[in-house]
Amino acid sequence: MAKFTISVFGLGYVGLSTAVCFASRGFRVLGVDTHKERVRSVGAGRPTIYEPGLGKLLAKSIYRGLLSCTADYRRAVTEALATFIAVGTPNKADGTIDLGSIREASRQIGEVLRGKEQWHLVVIRSTVTPGATSQVVKPIIEDASGKECGTDWGLCMNPEFLREGSAIQDTLRPDRIVIGEHDKRSGDHLENLYKQFHRGDRPPILRMSLTNAEIVKYASNAFLAMKVSYINMIADLCERIPGADVSEVANGIGLDKRIGPLFLKAGLGYGGSCFPKDLKALQGFAQNVGAHLPMVNAIIKVNELQPSKAVELMKRFVNSLKGKRIAILGLSFKPDTDDVREAVSIKVIKALLDDGAEVVAYDPVATRNARRILGGRVAYAQSALECMAGADACIVVTEWEEFKRLRPEDFLKTMKTPVVIDGRRIFDPKNFQDKVRFAAVGLGTSDRAPRDP
Ligand code: UGA
Repeated sequence: MAKFTISVFGLGYVGLSTAVCFASRGFRVLGVDTHKERVRSVGAGRPTIYEPGLGKLLAKSIYRGLLSCTADYRRAVTEALATFIAVGTPNKADGTIDLGSIREASRQIGEVLRGKEQWHLVVIRSTVTPGATSQVVKPIIEDASGKECGTDWGLCMNPEFLREGSAIQDTLRPDRIVIGEHDKRSGDHLENLYKQFHRGDRPPILRMSLTNAEIVKYASNAFLAMKVSYINMIADLCERIPGADVSEVANGIGLDKRIGPLFLKAGLGYGGSCFPKDLKALQGFAQNVGAHLPMVNAIIKVNELQPSKAVELMKRFVNSLKGKRIAILGLSFKPDTDDVREAVSIKVIKALLDDGAEVVAYDPVATRNARRILGGRVAYAQSALECMAGADACIVVTEWEEFKRLRPEDFLKTMKTPVVIDGRRIFDPKNFQDKVRFAAVGLGTSDRAPRDP
């Protein structure tokens, strides 16, 4: 027997993971999306994104009759006790948040609530700027429904903290659940829903105001992005000191419990659909309310410069890129996803093409998405070894597991000149420096490195 029914508006990363995980824990879930093809595909058990574990769980939920997808938002609100809004909140041209889809979903929910007798809970799962839930969502639903929030229907803001590549695990086993509540009844309802979801093994549940929950989400992402930009800043320092190595420095820093080891991996910068978007939205929001966030500006600045490291490090060995064949390992913004939104690979490849290089790229799953952006200007290989074949230099842009297994001999054997740039610190410098021309983010020059003839 299913627990109660929930509906989820938006079947992108967040919505689909939320929908599938609730269904896997015995809830009946109705997924709603305006993209007809997405509704068809997900409804038939075919995820529209690559995410480890998602396909299996989706198929199982559909087979058990617990998850169904529809474009009919009326049915999805009428039949459910609670509706999660997980639609996209992209940036406008000026960097501030675009709440267009949130407004539309709110209007649709309000329209249905007008004719619904039972109390209904609306939960904002999308990332929205502080104040949006109470100043945008609430009045739109109240207007469209003619009903009062807190009396006739409830409202919560429940940010998600899931990472692409581990979205299912993060949703099933989050570090904490943050519930921003308009009123106590709304918060009690959502807490109760999560108690049923997590049963005995429950993460801490924090209850707070709607606005504080909205701020928690931005402050979390900004803090994590700050750790990444911080270590990339230290990496830049290390590159200028012979014998220095940011990986060892990061280990030395991270074991301090006050700092922690996670998100201290130096690389070519952060990408994806969250950090770049959220940091810019926070910057734009702060400006509008007259707040000064110099650290957020610095995080963004460091990250904007970071992809250029790839070419900068390569120029230690290759003077002119004109006509050189450069192999790119990894196109997705991080491993275990096919997402190329704001991916560093795109920036690196564009810079290489602008300098007259020929680019050949390989990614285990993201080639199709990258091709949509880069088109035929890049050659796409079927394997890492094929990508490296005949290349003048190779840059590791994404730290896929299969790249970690490459040995110096693989580069020596296949490449025209074995210039290897480790943009994600996956190789042991001690093993590579003696055998190939090796440079890495955050690695100071070594006297042991073979020199250009
Ligand atoms: C991020 C947050 O980690 C999630 O908690 C949050 O819910 C999500 O945004 C969101 O707002 O929806 P995600 O963007 O999927 O998740 O991926 P991360 O694992 O955070 O990585 C972001 C970027 O930082 C990647 O490009 C990654 O390569 C880079 N990164 C991460 C580093 O360069 N070094 C690190 O040590 C960690």
